[in-house]
Amino acid sequence: MADYLAMTVPQLQDERKKLTDAYQMFADRGLALDMSRGKPSPEQLDLSMGLFEIRQFIGENGVDARNYGNLEGMPEARRFFSGILGVSPDEVLVGGNSSLHMMYSMVELASRRGFPDGSAPWVRPEHKPKFLCPSPGYDRHFFITEYFGYEMLTVPMLPTGPDMDLVEQLAKDPDVKGIWCVPKYSNPDGYSYSDDTVRRLAQMETGAPDFRIFWDNAYAVHHISDTPDEVLNIMDLCREAGYENRPLLFCSLSKVTFSGASVAAMAASKANLTYILSNLAAATIGFDKVNQLRHVLFLKDMEGLQAHMCRQRALIEPKFQIVWELFEQELAPCGNIARWTHPNGGYFISLYTMDGCAKRTVELCAKAGVKLTAAGAAFPYGKDPHDSNIRIAPTYPPLEELRTAAQLLCVALRLATVEKLLEKHA
Ligand SMILES: Cc1ncc(COP(=O)(O)O)c(C=O)c1O
Repeated sequence: MADYLAMTVPQLQDERKKLTDAYQMFADRGLALDMSRGKPSPEQLDLSMGLFEIRQFIGENGVDARNYGNLEGMPEARRFFSGILGVSPDEVLVGGNSSLHMMYSMVELASRRGFPDGSAPWVRPEHKPKFLCPSPGYDRHFFITEYFGYEMLTVPMLPTGPDMDLVEQLAKDPDVKGIWCVPKYSNPDGYSYSDDTVRRLAQMETGAPDFRIFWDNAYAVHHISDTPDEVLNIMDLCREAGYENRPLLFCSLSKVTFSGASVAAMAASKANLTYILSNLAAATIGFDKVNQLRHVLFLKDMEGLQAHMCRQRALIEPKFQIVWELFEQELAPCGNIARWTHPNGGYFISLYTMDGCAKRTVELCAKAGVKLTAAGAAFPYGKDPHDSNIRIAPTYPPLEELRTAAQLLCVALRLATVEKLLEKHA
């Protein structure tokens, strides 16, 4: 293998021939592999089968989890999540099975009714509010704000978090109402916010008095390294800066126990929480407290949670390693045609192709039986301005399938690159 960027046209044509043959061999295998969504593998789910053994339904304060009530959640569950979110238990609302749904509810509430420290609902006739979208980011965040009619402003994601110079500048506009943040092991880059980024988010002046940071700590405890990332406490910093209503924090146990059948939680200032609960009361009498209690009894406390996540790590880390090894072997020798991230945790690796090659790479993979997340999905409106980002989700496929899928991905990326280079020479 040689540096593609230094190749002459005949050399590129020769390489294209070799890669087309290699690609065809994968295509002939009739593969049907999926690296598209960040789902736990069945082995990871098996780690939580103990949940089904737990039959206790009376909580520590005598609350009968089987019955109506306690919209804010079981007290032990509020305490448990306060440990993950870094707030006090009375700032926590424990919800149902999905943090994404809680985020949707908050955007919906703000859109229809606003927050008390603002003057109007965020969405009004003849008025298009705006939302900051660090990108690449989580496609389903962007789906929510698109769905409610926000203009989404793309902010480049850096290894330190969103480009804060741009965030500070854009946030001065009173129509900019909020920002999506995945502060630890971001989806899809796996970046964690630096201290400076968190401080600036907490302290910045915003045009909208009711500006909200949607702090989605989905991967707060999902480490795959002995030196896990640490992120500063957004609630403490906002409070110190005099903006305690600014952050809305979210997390869930979706990638701790059962995705789709675990427990989600959010946290906010007491004023926010009172307002949120009074509105939520129109929607439900209470969430599934039996599952809340079962999860606390199963995971116990922060130490129990960490021990469980170590068992998760043992299953996940080798999958990340395989992908990194293959990229190192198959892509690095081809010169500066791709780069990829090396997160200390989370569920994803971002692979960056040369500009204009991501869609073609994903298309080639799909035609040969390997499904990847659609290129561009990690950007507002599904449009990657560079057509360069591919989100790799290594957790779900078995090791050997993952190896095959990653091998094909490397061949597809190299073929797409050679095609692009030949196009440039034409
Ligand atoms: C950043 C982020 N937030 C939220 C979710 C979904 O969380 P939940 O299952 O709690 O709705 C995901 C799932 O991939 C995610 O990556």
